[in-house]
Amino acid sequence: MRLTSLTSPSFPPREYNTTVIVGGQFGDEGKGKVTHYLATDADIVVRSQGGNNAGHTIVSNGVTYKLHLIPCGILEPHCQCYITGGVVIDPKVLIGEIQGLKDKGIATDGRIWLSPAAHVILPYHAELDRLAEEAKGKSKIGTTGRGIGPCYADKTNRVGIRIEEFIDAKKLREYLERNIARINKQHGTTFDVDKMFNECQEWAATLRPYVKENLELILNDEIDQGKNVLFEGAQGTFLDVTFGTIPYVTSSSTIASGILAGTGVGPTKIREVYTINKAYMTRVGSGPMPTENTFVDNVTAGEFGTTTGRARRIGYFDAPLVRTANKVNGATGMIITKLDILDTQEKVKLCVAYMFNGKRIEELPIGTSDLEGYEPVYEEMKGWKCDTTQVRRFADLPGEAQAYLKRIEELCKTKICMVSVGADRNATIVK
Ligand code: IMP
Ligand code: MG
Repeated sequence: MRLTSLTSPSFPPREYNTTVIVGGQFGDEGKGKVTHYLATDADIVVRSQGGNNAGHTIVSNGVTYKLHLIPCGILEPHCQCYITGGVVIDPKVLIGEIQGLKDKGIATDGRIWLSPAAHVILPYHAELDRLAEEAKGKSKIGTTGRGIGPCYADKTNRVGIRIEEFIDAKKLREYLERNIARINKQHGTTFDVDKMFNECQEWAATLRPYVKENLELILNDEIDQGKNVLFEGAQGTFLDVTFGTIPYVTSSSTIASGILAGTGVGPTKIREVYTINKAYMTRVGSGPMPTENTFVDNVTAGEFGTTTGRARRIGYFDAPLVRTANKVNGATGMIITKLDILDTQEKVKLCVAYMFNGKRIEELPIGTSDLEGYEPVYEEMKGWKCDTTQVRRFADLPGEAQAYLKRIEELCKTKICMVSVGADRNATIVK
């Protein structure tokens, strides 16, 4: 039985103007650059999960910006930037980032809004992150060390401190006393309530003007009014806490539905979901990566973590993995970035399937904790051996590059709607 939709013609849905930007791989796919490009037409850019484990590098008018918490829309003067309830906010980092933008002449006042529902990363979280990694020894996750996991753990354990409590001195004091007593007892640490309280009070005073009550309700109304809203995902599909390569994942849901869960916006209000994918693969931290192969060096490819500076692991494009990503994200389109990094390759190689226990597997299975024994099946195509960084139309790409992209579309079962051929905003091909 199918019930008639309760929405009347005078009530939404209408033509929503909303787009989710989600990483299709292991993070660092170039979501920052894509968001910045699409922000030209956006009214609002939203960050909804993760924290300052994320690192988005954007080149705007020749200036490089590294953002961890503030949505990339901040570089477009007409954009409003929302940080909604699903994000974990390190106040010190956020204040530093706001100051850094101000120093570069970017207006921030009245443009950045924080949800009272977002949880706060406190100084003890980074220490707990470090201790957890240390205890894991050889099987450590290789976290960014920013306290993300312990903060989300507190949230799930319902002992976290949200922005709402953080800016309320009485509650802050009460919660800190309770949490620090527990942590010091459990971990033998010596965190001092007075010291942390005073520090937090200072941060809270700086951040108070940025806090907006009912941010998510306002956002919903704005979506209904037809505002152009971009949801800027952080990390990537295979770092998702449910569907990633467990346990080598982050602590938030990084897929499209997780991004929405962090905003209080329902799935019926989303028009487009784009998975962002590099033309090859990278991964930072531990965990399986079936196509790992340093076929291009880190310096040439510019593959160092934005947050930690770690050299990223590099590999060939993994189509079964991206195909799964497109499926679990409900992708309406794919965006391919850093195609130009393959410009010098004699041959371009891509993984089209895996062999596992004598069986051919066309899409990465869900929730794989272990990819031991998954042998990539590779296909080699002729490289294009020429500079694509100046190309601005798909038809002007060398035939070999077009063939490579078409093969990716075919294997990943989703249309490519944009290709990036350089860090600068205009190094973009819209199909
Ligand atoms: P955490 O998010 O700091 O707990 O780190 C968990 C795992 O996710 C580690 O392998 C990190 O390297 C990885 N990770 C977290 N955030 C990002 C990101 O923004 N880009 C790429 N990898 C990330
Ligand atoms: Mg990154």
